[in-house]
Amino acid sequence: MLSEALVFYSKADVAEAWLSALGRELPDLAMHTAIDGPPPCPPEDVQYAVVWKAPHGFFRPFVNLKLVVNLGAGVDALVARDDLPDVPITRLSDPEMSKMMAGFVLMCVLRHARDIVPFERAQREGRWRYIHPTTPDKVRVGVLGLGELGATAAHEIARFGYPVHGWSRSPKSLPGIDCRHGLETLPQFLSESDILVVMLPLTGETRHLLNAERLALLPKGAKFVNVARGPIVDEPALIAALQSGHISEASLDVFEHEPLSPDSPLWAMDNVLITPHLASIALPKSAAAQIAENIRRIRSGEPVLNRVDPGRGY
Ligand SMILES: NC(=O)c1ccc[n+]([C@@H]2O[C@H](COP(=O)([O-])OP(=O)(O)OC[C@H]3O[C@@H](n4cnc5c(N)ncnc54)[C@H](OP(=O)(O)O)[C@@H]3O)[C@@H](O)[C@H]2O)c1
Repeated sequence: MLSEALVFYSKADVAEAWLSALGRELPDLAMHTAIDGPPPCPPEDVQYAVVWKAPHGFFRPFVNLKLVVNLGAGVDALVARDDLPDVPITRLSDPEMSKMMAGFVLMCVLRHARDIVPFERAQREGRWRYIHPTTPDKVRVGVLGLGELGATAAHEIARFGYPVHGWSRSPKSLPGIDCRHGLETLPQFLSESDILVVMLPLTGETRHLLNAERLALLPKGAKFVNVARGPIVDEPALIAALQSGHISEASLDVFEHEPLSPDSPLWAMDNVLITPHLASIALPKSAAAQIAENIRRIRSGEPVLNRVDPGRGY
């Protein structure tokens, strides 16, 4: 008789933490990691895969697969591959993950809005440098992407008194946020963003969306935050804008190629904060329940929650 098993693959997460959190939710399900090689069960037993950046061909032996769970919110690496099985793919949708991201984005926005970058520079030089604070109502923040993470971050920034406008593909209505949508609204959106925060998924439509021409539409001296995906921005164009001063500061958690090359001119820019893609992470404690819920749904033939549309790319 066919047994039922779950296979876990992620080099970025602690497998034991995920397997024990999932085991508490689904004690009757066999769970194995496949990080160091094939799982110790017949491949036909594997019905559920919980993965982050699994290697090419990973899914092929699992002929009875019924569900692929992406261990995060961004599914670009998963939907772009050509070896994806024809089964539902779900993303994590976890309020704790959104909160963690919103905190990170708020830290970046406040750091730029409260002139912390020039103060850090002055401190390094042993200089007492007074810059009169700009009040929050004078700093316009544009948030590109009003999804689970973007909308939470937009609300958090607005809560601190910053005028926030947000941009999405379809029309949205969010209290306290000036919501705009569609490519035709983007030029004006950018021209009104003293601080631009990128929170879009990486798709065919958003790849290099922020090219030299669009970055030039930002107000002179604008500040730039990217916590989404590096390839949404034309990185050489961003570097050129930082070098010219058109963009005066940046906080970058994601890059065109990760890890960022030691040769990148970004490393030497003291107006750029570089963090290694950790603005938010998947949290087993809070996310295991929703993975378990989707497995129960598959078992009972119900539609899964948080399903990704591979055609749309997110
Ligand atoms: N740095 C990190 O640690 C980290 C961690 C987690 C996630 N991320 C990144 O954050 C991204 C956003 O996450 P999320 O959960 O908020 O995503 P989401 O819920 O899928 O929402 C995506 C948002 O972007 C908008 N959008 C998509 N394509 C667009 C287009 N062509 N033009 C205009 N708007 C577009 C969507 O518009 P609609 O509302 O109209 O659909 C939606 O508002 C993820 O995709 C991932 O890449 C980064």
